[in-house]
Amino acid sequence: MAETDGAGASFAELRDPGWDESQLRPYTFPTRQILRLSHTDPRAEMLINNEEPVVLTDTNLVHPALKWDIPYLQENIGNGDFSVYTANNHKFLYYDEKKLSNFEDFVPKSRRIEMKFSEFVDRIHQAEEQGGNERLYLQQTLNDTVGRKIVVDFLGFNWNWINKQQAKRNWGPLTSNLLLIGMEGNVTPAHYDEQQNFFAQIKGHKRCILFPPDQFDCLYPYPVHHPCDRQSQVDFENPDYDKFPNFKNTIGYEAVVGPGDVLYIPMYCWHHIESLLNGGVTITVNFWYKGAPTPKRIEYPLRAHQKVAIMRNIEKMLGEALGDPHEVGPLLNMMIKGRYDHGLS
Ligand code: SIN
Ligand code: FE
Repeated sequence: MAETDGAGASFAELRDPGWDESQLRPYTFPTRQILRLSHTDPRAEMLINNEEPVVLTDTNLVHPALKWDIPYLQENIGNGDFSVYTANNHKFLYYDEKKLSNFEDFVPKSRRIEMKFSEFVDRIHQAEEQGGNERLYLQQTLNDTVGRKIVVDFLGFNWNWINKQQAKRNWGPLTSNLLLIGMEGNVTPAHYDEQQNFFAQIKGHKRCILFPPDQFDCLYPYPVHHPCDRQSQVDFENPDYDKFPNFKNTIGYEAVVGPGDVLYIPMYCWHHIESLLNGGVTITVNFWYKGAPTPKRIEYPLRAHQKVAIMRNIEKMLGEALGDPHEVGPLLNMMIKGRYDHGLS
């Protein structure tokens, strides 16, 4: 066989990937592969410039952290408090606690508990041994309570490379590094974030399915004032096509990332993330950056993510003007129903 075929598969990609298809959850929609490229490949630069996803295989971004595992972290991560989400199923649908009072009938299916790292480790082991439904997902911003060795590892990250990425795109400041430690099979359902993200995989494998911002109409995000703002209402495992007919048109872009891989998740790009089935614990560190400031001269036509930002602002303005988030939907409906949908001439 030649070193590369037409699709660009190389020897590197034909190596044992450390996982197989049976570890992926089945879904109804088609997907294409996200390119895996060297950070020195000019195509990678172009994709990031265009705010399109790409997996970078050799950035060394979190090289000193590739030795991290549960015992090392337990020994060195310090005595700070960690946010741990617990759920009785594998889906950890995010919700904004500050918006819970807007929708009093909404009952979260997961809850956040603050605990020490050692308690998290005990509870993971308990959950694994009991073999019940309880699952845990640690999601904690790295802060100054971590121990000395973790600080040394952190200082050894490839800041040279990532600072240049930030500067080249005129991104705002790094806002946080989120540490995620998940059990095998955990799912973060599809949502978008309002920041640029370099998603650095450290341990285990995660399947990341991305949808560009122009699929807004296929993914049906919750209203802005709902606690699940920015999350899709569609249950990917049992899509309700009566409620969400355009979900039939969705097309995903996917990659399975493993230790050392860095996935660029563009701002406003939808992402569904699952720790592979029977793949053990996963560890990830996210690098979140504020987007670039809006340019002085706006170019038309606007891009899909700019329209999403406009829609968000309209919902926010209406919520304030009407004084009640529950009046936003009825007003928007009254404004468009029967007025825009009959092919005006
Ligand atoms: C995850 O890794 O489970 C979620 C990360 C993200 O949404 O940025
Ligand atoms: Fe996210």
